[in-house]
Parts: sequence; structure tokens; C-alpha cells
Amino acid sequence: TDIPGLPRPIRWSAATAAFQIEGARDEGGRGRSVWDLWVQTPGKVIDGSTAEPGPDSYHRWAEDVALAAGLGLDRYRFSISWTRVQPDGTGPSNPAGLDYYSRLVDDLLAAGVTPFPTLYHWDLPVPIHEAGGWCSRDTAARFADYTELVADRLGDRVKNWYTINEPAMTTLQGYAVGALAPGEFLIFDALPTAHHQLLAHGLATRALRAAGADAVGVANNHTHVRPLNPESPADRSAVDAYDLLHNRIFADPILTGAYPDLSAFGHEMPVREGDMETIGQAPDFYAVNFYNPTTVTAPTGEDNPIPFDIVPTPGAPVTGFGDEWPIVPEALTALLVDFTERYRDLPPLIVSENGASFPEPDRAARVDDADRISYLDGHIRAVGAAIAAGADVEEYTVWSLIDNFEWADGFTQRFGLVHVDFDTAERTPKASYDWYRRVIEGNRA
Ligand code: FCB
Repeated sequence: TDIPGLPRPIRWSAATAAFQIEGARDEGGRGRSVWDLWVQTPGKVIDGSTAEPGPDSYHRWAEDVALAAGLGLDRYRFSISWTRVQPDGTGPSNPAGLDYYSRLVDDLLAAGVTPFPTLYHWDLPVPIHEAGGWCSRDTAARFADYTELVADRLGDRVKNWYTINEPAMTTLQGYAVGALAPGEFLIFDALPTAHHQLLAHGLATRALRAAGADAVGVANNHTHVRPLNPESPADRSAVDAYDLLHNRIFADPILTGAYPDLSAFGHEMPVREGDMETIGQAPDFYAVNFYNPTTVTAPTGEDNPIPFDIVPTPGAPVTGFGDEWPIVPEALTALLVDFTERYRDLPPLIVSENGASFPEPDRAARVDDADRISYLDGHIRAVGAAIAAGADVEEYTVWSLIDNFEWADGFTQRFGLVHVDFDTAERTPKASYDWYRRVIEGNRA
């Protein structure tokens, strides 16, 4: 059978994010975000694309809802654009922005799909960026204000919320090495952006619970870190260093109320009184975006300030990103089991993103994406193995429902269960869409 077996049924979801699918950057009173600056800067996006029109979901959201319902999804994970709701990042809300998400929520509910929005998927308003962005503590308070505006309008119908998507990627790629917006190159001086995002998560959690939310949590990117040479003590130290930076700096404060020891990086977090209580409020779930493991080795070169080198994972097949994205489903089992063993009061786990891109045609076409089916099949089985080993995983999410704008890679990497012609926005389900529909049918909670 092509349907993965699971020891028990779980909930099923698929995900998108506002900037990656909406297009219509100048419509509906939307303000500018750091991603508008990025796509307008020549050379930043590999194919020069600007995320427009792309899937054009600002106009075609009803097609996305129909696709979500057609899969039989329990939930749809989408994100709300701060700049549609609050064009300047502060001040009054923009009715057209809130109306858009309110309609989407109504349509999802009418179609029998539970809305599971993310409040922040990387589109930081430009005025907030200019005031310091995530380097500034004040951004956490502004995020909480924005959260209240959204909760006021949607909280009667939306009960499940993701606060922030992948704070780890924002810190590491956005502020430390400049590979994603806002493109800062601060290396270890980027660490305060982790604390400010975690604080924003904590403040938003409080605001959402006050507004009647049932379940609130963060969705972070995590990786399973492995030594190139397991016999080498230097490689094992490199594993510990990278595990701290990518995983533990974000998970420990939320799940234990304390940071791990960061003295190895010669930095301390800008923690003020009460922050750790705010960040450590028990989340209702802990959500993991997982794509691939990371293999590291001891750093090369003298006086290298970075205590690890990231290297290709030996022997692993790869996705459309090549060596950067090795395919190792067992790494997801290992990660979920490690979390279960490491954190005593761990809430239920959610896989909030998992998926892969492969080279596919640009024109509207029926795509027989056997590679994607095999990737998803392997990773759903890996979730099953983690459950069998004691991990309490209650939901699995495919990235992505539809092909979309893959950040600095523009329209060159297709992750969808549904093909999108980026000129016409025409949507055509791929073979993986039918496959996922059957998986859901056979394993429904
Ligand atoms: C994740 C992002 C998501 C998407 C996938 C491929 O890191 O959260 O928006 O780009 O990668």
C-alpha cells in the first residue's frame, strides 16, 4: 500500500504563508514589510521575482479553501500579514486587511476546515524594522499590540494560534548571516533577536489567552544535528554548539523557562525581570518545522569565531536545493524522540511544516511528483515511528498546500501539493495531492 501506517490517528494540515502566496502587495491598504524591501533590491531574489502575482491568493483565497477542503484537511495553516492588518506596524488597524482574513476564516469554517493561523511569518513592517526590528526589545510590545487587534476581530472564530514562525531562521538567516530579510550580518550580535522574538511570543500568548484562545504555541524550525565523524570529540563539540544555536536557544526558554549556558558564544541574552516567566508560560503545544538534518564538523581555520562547519550529509539523497537539503526521514524520528526525552513537561507535539521541492515544469501541468510522495511518505512513517517510541505527536502539516514564492529562491523551488502557474495563477493538483487525500482518509483522528 502507498498509505503510511501510524500507530494511532492524528490530525492533518497543510500550510502556506501570507507573503509567499498573497501577491497584491499594493492592494487593500497594505503597508511595506522587510520582504518588500528585499524583493525590490536587485540581486536579492535568485530569479528577480517579486512574489507577484504568484498564486495571487489575495484574490483567489476561495480556490485555496476549496483545495484544502478537497484534501479533507482537519486544519489549514496560513499566516496573517502584520502589514495588511496594521500598515505602519503601529496605530489603528486597516479594515480591508482584517476583512480579508475574516472572510478566509469564515470560508474555511463553512468548508469544515479549522483555521490555524500564524500571526507572524517573517513580514516585519518597515517602520518597525527602522526602529530596530528584532534587535529592539520594543518590537515585542508592538507585536503584542498587533496580536490584540487580530484577536479582537478573529478571536470569536479562531481558537488555535501559532504566534511566530521559525524565530531560529529569523535570528540565524535574517540577522546573523543575512541570507533572508532583513539581511543583517551580525553573527553573534544577532542573539538578542532570539530573546525579543521569544518575548513577543510570550506577550502574544498572554493576549490570545485573554481573548479566549484554546491553544497557543510557537512554530519553530528544528534540525537534528549529527557529527560528520561520530568518533571525533571535536565533531561532537561542534554538534553541541550548533544544537545550542539552532535548537536549544529557542526551545529551552519556552519549555523550561531558562536559557542554556551561552558562555561559549561570549554573549548573554538581554533578559529583564519577568521575561523568563513570560516566555516560559506553558504552551498548549510545541510545533516543529522539520525539513532535514544538519551534519557538522569541527571548524577549519585559526581563530574561526564560528564553532562548527556545516557540511553535506554523506550518502543522503537531496531535494531541489541540492546538498543543503538532504533527505533523511529517520532524522525526524530522532528529533521528536530527543525532544520527548530532553523536556520533562513537554506539551503535545505538532509537525507544523514538512515537505520538499523538486524541479517541476513552470506551465500549468499535471505533475506526477513521485519524489514528493516518497519524501512525505518517509516522513509520515518517521512520525509514526516517533509515536511508537513514545513521542506525543498529534498533528502533521505539509509545506505547502500550493506552489509559492520561496523567499530568496523566488519561484524556482516548488513545494506544493498543487502546481501553480505563476503567470496565470492557475492551480492544478499534483499526484501528491491525491496521495495525501487518501492518507488523510485512511488515518483520520
Ligand atoms: C521554512 C519556511 C517556509 C518555507 C519552507 C520551505 O523555513 O517557514 O516559509 O519557505 O521553509
